[in-house]
Amino acid sequence: MAFRNDFAWGAATAAYQIEGAHEADGKGPSVWDMFCRRPGAVRNGDTGNVACDHYGRWQDDVALMREMGLNAYRLSISWPRVLPEGRGTVNERGLAFYERLIDALRDANIEPMVTLFHWDYPYALYRRGGWLNPDSPRWFADYARLVVERLSDRVRDWVTLNEPQVFIGDGHHGGKHAPGLRLPLDEVLLAGHNALLGHGLAAQAIRAAARSPVNVGIAMAVSVKIPASDSAADVSAARQALFAAQPGGCWCNGWWLDPVAHGRYPEESLRLHEATAPRVAPGDMETIAQPLDFVGYNIYTAEHIRAGADGQPVSVPRAPGHPHSLFNWPIDPENLYWGPKLLYETYPVPLHITENGMSNIDWVSVDGACHDPQRIDMTARSLAALSRAADDGVDVRGYYHWSLMDNFEWAEGYHQRFGLVHVDYATLKRTPKDSAKWYRQVIATNGANLPR
Ligand code: FCB
Repeated sequence: MAFRNDFAWGAATAAYQIEGAHEADGKGPSVWDMFCRRPGAVRNGDTGNVACDHYGRWQDDVALMREMGLNAYRLSISWPRVLPEGRGTVNERGLAFYERLIDALRDANIEPMVTLFHWDYPYALYRRGGWLNPDSPRWFADYARLVVERLSDRVRDWVTLNEPQVFIGDGHHGGKHAPGLRLPLDEVLLAGHNALLGHGLAAQAIRAAARSPVNVGIAMAVSVKIPASDSAADVSAARQALFAAQPGGCWCNGWWLDPVAHGRYPEESLRLHEATAPRVAPGDMETIAQPLDFVGYNIYTAEHIRAGADGQPVSVPRAPGHPHSLFNWPIDPENLYWGPKLLYETYPVPLHITENGMSNIDWVSVDGACHDPQRIDMTARSLAALSRAADDGVDVRGYYHWSLMDNFEWAEGYHQRFGLVHVDYATLKRTPKDSAKWYRQVIATNGANLPR
């Protein structure tokens, strides 16, 4: 069992979830700043105004990463911190924050992976139609170019979008994420198409503007399908389920992955969405399907699948009492074997697990430590599963645990704690959890101490 020698052992965060400083140094508002003001939008009325105050405490946080032995860190850049109006005037103080942070990461031998868009869309551009505006792909690409011009001398790994299916599905269809819209499906899919075009144009812009060699990727949310047994029939049923068209929404994995990797929307989904599919202009799919240096998969959940009498996928319920996180997401560590394995067959592109983790009821004990054995166990099993996928020939380049520290979990506010580091939101004190110490050992042995 072996991870590559240059395996990226990371942790991940996103700007709005940790930075706070929502009005500092010329930052403009994002759709999340505005959404949090809506009564009832976020649990407990929580906001990201202060969050972990990473904006003020980034040096401490880099020191924590160094202590943990991370060699990689996935962060995102707040678009409205850099461009308060989304386009036009550049906020130099905002850019300078990321320059300082990235320099400190490099000094600590931590390779930054920079996500350009992790959901904090500039409110000014939202007022002009957001992802529904036909110019929105270009706005995003222009912002990407600006950031890359400034940072590509010190950043190699770039992620264009984080989870388009989630900011489109939950943000523009289900209404539970910013900007809180419940649009009809045709407009949802149009916004999604524009986001994909934004990805393609941004990928081109990154490569054109890069001052040193870059890797360009995208981070996708995937709900994995785990075959109920190793039988060929169950594996084939799981494979079918993984790519099956989803009626009524935009949660089909292939709807997002096929365009970026293969330059087409999947046939079955197109048939299903016949009345609502976006109009694809000549050249759109070529723009979207830019070469990918890697695909990032954010993997948390799974469904167990067996083959029915006719070979069709059938969902297998879990046994009563199956372990679950505070989010009530079932714990299925085998998803880090079956996800990469089945995805890589269809998209044979080097991959990173750009997010994986669990929320838990963690607090600082009377002994001053934060004990989180469930997180350690879940992550150990998940990494062991991932290493088996690597043994099977899947080109796995890295793992970024979600998250470096407890943070603002979107509509769930501060209720869900995903961190390797505990954050006391009253004092902003950081306490590395037991899992952070355990992860340090995993990194130091390149995974040799994981369970077989
Ligand atoms: C993902 C998001 C990330 C975090 C985790 C728990 O969908 O990308 O920001 O909230 O879920």
